[in-house]
Amino acid sequence: MKNYKDLFLSKDQYLIDSSTDFKRKIPEIISLINKYSDITSDWSKIEKTSQLTEKNLDKIQKVVSNEAQKDLVSIFSPYIEPHLKKLFGNNLKYKIRVSAQVKSCWTDKVSNEKRKGFFVDKVFFEDKKKPNIAFPTRAHQDLDNNGNRGSHTMIFYFQLTQALQNSSALEFGIFNDQIGILPFSSLWGYPNEITENAQKKISWATPDLTPGNIMLMTGLTPHRSNKIGQVPRVALNVKIQPSNLSYLNKIYGVSLSNISSGSNFSEKLNILKNIIVPLSKKHRLLLYELSVIYFLLGDVQNAKQTLGDLCLFNIDNKILEKWVYASTLKKRMYQVTEDEISKEFKFLKNIVPFSSGDAILETIKLNS
Ligand SMILES: [Fe+2]
Repeated sequence: MKNYKDLFLSKDQYLIDSSTDFKRKIPEIISLINKYSDITSDWSKIEKTSQLTEKNLDKIQKVVSNEAQKDLVSIFSPYIEPHLKKLFGNNLKYKIRVSAQVKSCWTDKVSNEKRKGFFVDKVFFEDKKKPNIAFPTRAHQDLDNNGNRGSHTMIFYFQLTQALQNSSALEFGIFNDQIGILPFSSLWGYPNEITENAQKKISWATPDLTPGNIMLMTGLTPHRSNKIGQVPRVALNVKIQPSNLSYLNKIYGVSLSNISSGSNFSEKLNILKNIIVPLSKKHRLLLYELSVIYFLLGDVQNAKQTLGDLCLFNIDNKILEKWVYASTLKKRMYQVTEDEISKEFKFLKNIVPFSSGDAILETIKLNS
């Protein structure tokens, strides 16, 4: 079994595993989805993929989330759970949820246009009429999309249709020097879209997503789809957010047992902080968790500065402030309200379950 810890340790922040037998499962997955979708063709075959209509793709997406979900979880668990144990330990609280990542087709005009997206009832739309699956994915990093639930989010991605260049191929941004958050803006309606300029300054790789390969990415992996959508694409993914920081031991090899020597909560939190400070110099992902620890200690200034360090650009102070508060609220930056950034904020009382802040509390509990 390949060790997926390299995913977090590498500068690329993505990993392809071609050593499993996952390819064997694809026919089973397709017939399972088809059973509930009124589709009879084997759409993993290129000539049949091309025939998938927008309606078919929409149905596939719905079926994956509903009727086929339970069986899909059974199929995917053996490819996921052993890795979770190895990287996140035995105390991880998680639920495997399989989602479909589908794309239909679009014209060259769509590929080349500048489009401003918009929100209706907290849902992002690319267009007033056409569904989002009929547009390329904008360049972004998932940390914020995942409600800032931690840098060590692990995204498993399984492409089912052929990985073709003209089939909305997934692309990964390669960090130039060190990893971090790339310049982003909401100028085009998408809250954390990597700016055009920043996209130009890095190179983009097309990973080998040949069906059967399992691809992994983290909350920091810059990704987008290429702009050519001539053939539909169907992939499934599973996102896992660590509910505690046992990965400090499992991935980085440090012991957390010292935390128990602290005589109160803030002493314990400080011990954890002192474990992360030196680690975060080399493993910059951990700057995110360090920032959350400062925040829990009530040190907003250092929380902001640390999160600012994770950014590969000078981030606007107001956005930074919202981002810091988002970490205990399980929210995206733009969802944080002025009310929430009030002086009355009770640092340890406002922690939402399964937020990054909660994962740190859980770590203290587990090691007390
Ligand atoms: Fe994403």
